Amino acid sequence: MEWWQAGVIYQIYPRSFRDADGDGVGDLAGIAERAPYLADTLGVDAVWVSPFYPSPMDDFGYDVSDYCGVDPLFGTLEDFDRMREALHGCGVRLIVDLVPNHTSDRHPWFLASRSSRDDPRRDWYVWADPAPGGGPPNNWLAVFGGPAWEWDEATGQYYLHSFLRSQPDLNWRNPEVEAAMFDVVRFWLDRGVDGFRLDVAHFIMKDPQMRSNPPAAGPVAGTKDLKGYAAQEHLYDKGHPDVHAVFRRLRRLLDGAGRPVVSIGEIHIDDPEAWAAYYGERLDELHLPFNFRLLYAPWDADVVGGIVDDIEAAVPPGGWPNWVLGNHDEPRLATRYGPARARVAAMLLLTLRGTPTIYQGDELGLEEVPIPPGLEVDPWGLQVPGLGRDGCRTPMPWDGGPGGGFTSGRPWLPLGPQAPTHHVAAEEEDPASALNLYRALLRLRRAEPSLHGGGYARRDAPDGVLCYRRAAPGAAAATVALNFTAAPRVVDLPAGAVAASTGMDRAGERVAGATALGPDEGLVVLEGAQPE
Ligand code: NOJ
Repeated sequence: MEWWQAGVIYQIYPRSFRDADGDGVGDLAGIAERAPYLADTLGVDAVWVSPFYPSPMDDFGYDVSDYCGVDPLFGTLEDFDRMREALHGCGVRLIVDLVPNHTSDRHPWFLASRSSRDDPRRDWYVWADPAPGGGPPNNWLAVFGGPAWEWDEATGQYYLHSFLRSQPDLNWRNPEVEAAMFDVVRFWLDRGVDGFRLDVAHFIMKDPQMRSNPPAAGPVAGTKDLKGYAAQEHLYDKGHPDVHAVFRRLRRLLDGAGRPVVSIGEIHIDDPEAWAAYYGERLDELHLPFNFRLLYAPWDADVVGGIVDDIEAAVPPGGWPNWVLGNHDEPRLATRYGPARARVAAMLLLTLRGTPTIYQGDELGLEEVPIPPGLEVDPWGLQVPGLGRDGCRTPMPWDGGPGGGFTSGRPWLPLGPQAPTHHVAAEEEDPASALNLYRALLRLRRAEPSLHGGGYARRDAPDGVLCYRRAAPGAAAATVALNFTAAPRVVDLPAGAVAASTGMDRAGERVAGATALGPDEGLVVLEGAQPE
């Protein structure tokens, strides 16, 4: 197996992980400092670090003005090298975030592009004349609210921006754009990275005729409500099939790196078949198209079991699934489901077949931090009330000291009401903490071939319980039983010993046949295992 299959990925939002220089914003030196936490305390195999490149920070780094540098807020390229060495020295792989769909409007490429219609870089971005009757070329909308077209008075055309107006979309139909972005990939490969997470990967190819989108048929159950953006069916403004050829070429570049380099795509596509196409017909595109299906799943054993079955069926033979329960764009897991269910969800995430990605702070059971009106900073929330992401991006509490051990300065976002109790130091001491549950599950997953590499089979279970068996040849099989209800249940389990329980209080217990599951309780049973 490759490292990105057997391993677990941890997402670092660098602004909020650890601030080493006291300016209130996290930095690369802070990540380097906490490499032992990642490797030993927690026990993850890789980190994906959200953008740290030079940026005006309109979208907190997803508006890049130089793909081959480090923003002074986060450090220097030398700090990057030290971070990579610290991580690699602890056995943790490093995945960087590539933002291919758009740059900042202050990127030199865009400054050149908008300087004149004759500039050689004009066609690096998506420019269009007004519609015949005037106004924007078509009805495309920006995810962050309003139309996706911005009028450029000086050159008399509109440019496309699928997100903020300061994030112009690159034109991937121009081969020079692909060549420039592949050079960026080479730059980071030469600097020793182990993978790339591709921001809104499917957005890079649009309908060449730029047709208007039809209206949406209605809300889609189990997906995020994107407000005004959801009024359209986004047929033409992203996900054009030509995107697959780009990913095949990217994959060839990565496969030539001389070491296993993973490609992870941020692909928000709900239909499992359409999503699975991003693995490539010959498994020659993305290794892991992010699977976001659990993010908006109602807390219901049947629904969640159905999603797992759908994904298991959709992943092409030889492809490898992956699971996500949180990231820097979504309300916190412990807020979506509540603290007790979040522990069951953690057991689900870390025992399914496929690579899990943990979002920083979820291992502490952090909840969404309420940000008072007027103090919100996320541009999405400022443009579309209700969709702000600040509450999941607040700093990591490391200890009970001032600034939560995150900073010696004034944190860029408040740490929130849980910080005095839900910090790393306190949770390390509390045997039943969320942190110790994650640690136990991560160790178990790493130790057991059935869990990090085995097959998946659903088992019969009573109402409200999801039960599945993970088995690998020559290794003890694991059976996982998750009670999605707040009432006790009895589940039929194979003979074995409990290897983990969400309450951290049943490890070593022998079970066989009818077994009691407490409210909101999950168990992992290793078949045939001897009690501890
Ligand atoms: C997806 C990223 O995860 C999000 O944080 C960002 O705002 C958009 N892409 C635009 O780059």
